[in-house]
Amino acid sequence: MTTLGPAVDLGALDDFTSGEARQLRVEDRVLVVVRIDQDVYVLDDRCSHEDFSLAQGEVDVETCEIECARHGAMFDLHDGAPTSLPATRPVARYDARVRDGRVEVVLS
Ligand code: FES
Repeated sequence: MTTLGPAVDLGALDDFTSGEARQLRVEDRVLVVVRIDQDVYVLDDRCSHEDFSLAQGEVDVETCEIECARHGAMFDLHDGAPTSLPATRPVARYDARVRDGRVEVVLS
């Protein structure tokens, strides 16, 4: 496992449902947290096309993408890169990890 900086606890992995997106407010940020099986992905909860919550969209567990519910842009959960129009800019992503059954994110 790679070494990450100070992490913020987001809760128990068991409290996240695989394949569902959830909005969490942490410090001054609004995040979308997605669990797929034993992995967790964290992006800014703001579509780069317009200001819209990605947490309201659908998760594709096969391709590891999230779809914006407003106009249908897709984003890769690994890196926040857009994979379909109308979005052309990435969404910020954060390092996340699961440790001792807890989900942690690094907000550096
Ligand atoms: S606001 Fe997300 S695709 Fe338009």
